[in-house]
Amino acid sequence: MIDIHTHILPGVDDGARDLAESLAMARQAVADGLTHLFATPHHRDYTSLSRLEVSQRVAQLQVELDKSGIPLTLLPGHEVRLYDDMFDDWANDLAGPLGESRYVLAEPLFHHYDKRTDAMLFELFDRGYLPIMAHPERIRPIQDNLALIEPFLARGGLTQITATSLTGNGDWRGKQTAETMLRNGMVHIIASDAHHSYHRTPTLAAARDAAAVIVGQEQAAAMVSARPLVIVNNEPVTVTPVFI
Ligand SMILES: [Fe+2]
Repeated sequence: MIDIHTHILPGVDDGARDLAESLAMARQAVADGLTHLFATPHHRDYTSLSRLEVSQRVAQLQVELDKSGIPLTLLPGHEVRLYDDMFDDWANDLAGPLGESRYVLAEPLFHHYDKRTDAMLFELFDRGYLPIMAHPERIRPIQDNLALIEPFLARGGLTQITATSLTGNGDWRGKQTAETMLRNGMVHIIASDAHHSYHRTPTLAAARDAAAVIVGQEQAAAMVSARPLVIVNNEPVTVTPVFI
């Protein structure tokens, strides 16, 4: 399995605090069956790392994993926040795609989704990228009205729900929304959005199994394996646009 959304880099955002925690998270990932993992630090509000700096820190952490005999391949990325000045940061390489791919992990604001949000997502399409919306099931306006993301989905956008939304983290609305999205064919990828080694860990197997109850084993497996692999390899994903 491949995790496209984690905060495993030590000391850069609200994820892993230090190298020891990064290594603990990597061991958890391997034990759960993960082979590749994107490090996707927040592009705003914490240490703003350029794409080059993320790649350098990923390389440094990879050396530590290799030294510790942890068989996990790290890849660089950003969790790109869709706020007004996003494209200024993009121009300065403070936000960018997953690895060298055309896929962008794009996070709407938690309490606000409007035409400007769609405009930014659509500009990414116009620039030749394919946005993956990070955890829509946790975004309050989307919980209130799933049709909000219909234009994005109709354009062929992808969604990533968070594993703990399915396995239970106390957020019943997130769980309810994730399950409704699964039933309606609105989910393409499951990722951990792992921040720590003690909760929201980099593990996907339990969420894959929970999703399988709703969408079947083949589709659930695609959400944690085949589809993320397409992103690693920067190949085209073909999804059927959803109309709610
Ligand atoms: Fe995240």
